[in-house]
Amino acid sequence: MRTELTLTRPDDFHLHLRDGAMLAGIAPESARDFARAIIMPNLVLPVVTGAEAAAYRERIMAALPGADFTPLMTLYLTEASDAADIVAAHRAGIIHAVKLYPAGATTNSESGVRDMTRVRATLEAMSEADVPLCVHGEVTDAEIDIFDREAVFIERVLDPIRQAVPGLRVIMEHVTTKDAVDYVQSADAGLAATITTHHLVINRNHILAGGIRPHYYCLPVAKRELHRQALVRAAVSGDARFFLGTDSAPHADAAKESTCGCAGCFTATNTMPILAQVFENEGALDRLEPYVASFGAEFYGLPRNSGTLTLTRQEAPVGFPARIDTGAGPVTLFDPGMPVYWQVSARG
Ligand code: DOR
Ligand code: ZN
Repeated sequence: MRTELTLTRPDDFHLHLRDGAMLAGIAPESARDFARAIIMPNLVLPVVTGAEAAAYRERIMAALPGADFTPLMTLYLTEASDAADIVAAHRAGIIHAVKLYPAGATTNSESGVRDMTRVRATLEAMSEADVPLCVHGEVTDAEIDIFDREAVFIERVLDPIRQAVPGLRVIMEHVTTKDAVDYVQSADAGLAATITTHHLVINRNHILAGGIRPHYYCLPVAKRELHRQALVRAAVSGDARFFLGTDSAPHADAAKESTCGCAGCFTATNTMPILAQVFENEGALDRLEPYVASFGAEFYGLPRNSGTLTLTRQEAPVGFPARIDTGAGPVTLFDPGMPVYWQVSARG
């Protein structure tokens, strides 16, 4: 049995770092294991312009003195986005992608897109300049069942965008269904998907059976077991179109444990040990490195990192802290609910 694994230092292609006291408290949790991360722009005041992304990047760096970590910034797409500003920010290396939130789909998405025809010219300019589009793939119509919102989005929104703007490179973020896996696999080029840590581990029963567990509630919500299994198969398959994006999304415990709890699982701290366990359980430890350290970089046109991360298998299951304290309140860490024997033992 394999007991030690040294990987190229990984990247997280979907991360929420927040701002202010929360940023200060949680940024080191990602910078410890990850070399780079695609930073989501859904702050309370969304990051819409290149100048705002540059300023947010400075705040992130200020929260990580001395850390070897590169935030890869994104812009929040609105119906009023300025295509020229997006393209200029991308050319200048300030941003690496633009994020589409359907209005009302999730945390701080009110400024998102209601009518896709209003962003068509921007998407065409992005395609021309090869700026990738990250997509939160859920419709928001009240009459669509929440467990069907991803599959319906593919049919009603994503596929029409890709047909209309065929040169646009798209990352379907945090896929949660077999439908999404099949759709990504059916595309020849220009389409990839991130998969979170938590969606590889939990299904909807973990959220709802035997009591409601607010710390497992995220969006898109975890689906039934057959979908989780399709995600695991995609992640361990060695198919370069699927790579890690944790969607680590901290909220203070008081905001999660509430009559209307916020969506998000906080996985930055323990993602790498959990992933090693998931891949080991599938007999696919050798596929972990490309999943976390090369497929995403290739899709985004980035070089591989130079550092390393070593994980060691322990004799007994490893314990993780239940929560971390931040200046914005305690934040509960994702509990994988299964034995995890792997631990990060060296960072080089
Ligand atoms: O669970 C989620 N939390 N899903 C999202 O799409 C947003 C994120 C957040 O920002 O809290
Ligand atoms: Zn997210």
